[in-house]
Amino acid sequence: MLTKENVVNALKDVQDPELHKSVVELNMVRNVQIDGTHVSLEVVLTIKGCPLKAKIQQDVEDALKAIGATEVALQFGTMTDEERMALTASLKTQNVNKQGMPKMLEPDSGVQFIAITSGKGGVGKSTVTINLATALARLGKRVGIVDADIYGFSIPAMMRTQQKPTMIDQTAIPVEVAGVKIMSMGFYTKDNQPVMWRGPMLNKWIRNFLVNTHWGELDYLLIDLPPGTGDVAIDVAAMIPQAKEIIVTTPHNTASYVASRAGMMAIHTKHEVLGVVENMAYFETPDGQKNYILGQGGGDNLARSLKCEVIARVPFAKPEENLGSSIYDEDSVVGEVFTNLAEDIIYS
Ligand SMILES: Nc1ncnc2c1ncn2[C@@H]1O[C@H](COP(=O)(O)OP(=O)(O)OP(=O)(O)O)[C@@H](O)[C@H]1O
Ligand SMILES: [Mg+2]
Repeated sequence: MLTKENVVNALKDVQDPELHKSVVELNMVRNVQIDGTHVSLEVVLTIKGCPLKAKIQQDVEDALKAIGATEVALQFGTMTDEERMALTASLKTQNVNKQGMPKMLEPDSGVQFIAITSGKGGVGKSTVTINLATALARLGKRVGIVDADIYGFSIPAMMRTQQKPTMIDQTAIPVEVAGVKIMSMGFYTKDNQPVMWRGPMLNKWIRNFLVNTHWGELDYLLIDLPPGTGDVAIDVAAMIPQAKEIIVTTPHNTASYVASRAGMMAIHTKHEVLGVVENMAYFETPDGQKNYILGQGGGDNLARSLKCEVIARVPFAKPEENLGSSIYDEDSVVGEVFTNLAEDIIYS
């Protein structure tokens, strides 16, 4: 026989698709009524017109039919302002410790921070960030990207997403693409204006990306830094001293000379350098011949000057399948380079 208790129990397995928490734990379930094998209930959503209604509906039906319900009448409601504030407050206590510090920054949080940097623009930082992130995700890791290039953001476009984070008051739920959660200032620009962090919120961008964002559980948070050694790198160093750095360069010597400035910065900020990624290292012709279009040696020179290793060499290649996206296929040559790099990072 169905009871209220086993209905609620079954619903504990149904998660809010954005918050990744049980709808019961989030206090979203109301008015459970049982008549034989007919169940009616209400689920209150955080925001009106929640795009994931259909998914919740399906999951609720599946969960209840699995315990013997033959008919499920589900009504959707919206949380009151008070309820939503209580929810945001509880998300915040999960994200921030008593000292007001983001919990993910605590030494035992289990989150590994990797900042991707270069001395010069256009060498492939964002490409490395996106493809390392997706490779880690394919290997089962929980991964986020902070697009810290706050004026020159490019991650949403390069990952081909038009989505915006859902805002629950001032807490953002990151957009998820290819299994990777992403946050970018690109989501908060004027042109398409559904959500915004204003004034003082914007000045504390990095805090917002860490504290006012509901990342859930993460294994890796990759930070795509703007080129050079500017304020953003300093902010990140101050806020996330435990971040490790990957420095991207091309084989061209001038580029690596400039990249070494970023490396020096890493040493200055006491960030550990994981290694150098040499991007656009060569172009391989169909007969297997490697052409070193941009020269050779840039990665090695830089690694030598930073006393670290070249941890990956990425050839020139166009992402094939994903029209306009900068994510390379898992089976492509570049895809494999990033799988290897991800494995090295996981098992090092
Ligand atoms: N290995 C590669 N093969 C072919 N094209 C590449 C490769 N790596 C990067 N690109 C292309 O080069 C351009 C610059 O790459 P990307 O945006 O990743 O560099 P960036 O260092 O992040 O640049 P910025 O300094 O502007 O942020 C992009 O158009 C990207 O698609
Ligand atoms: Mg970039």
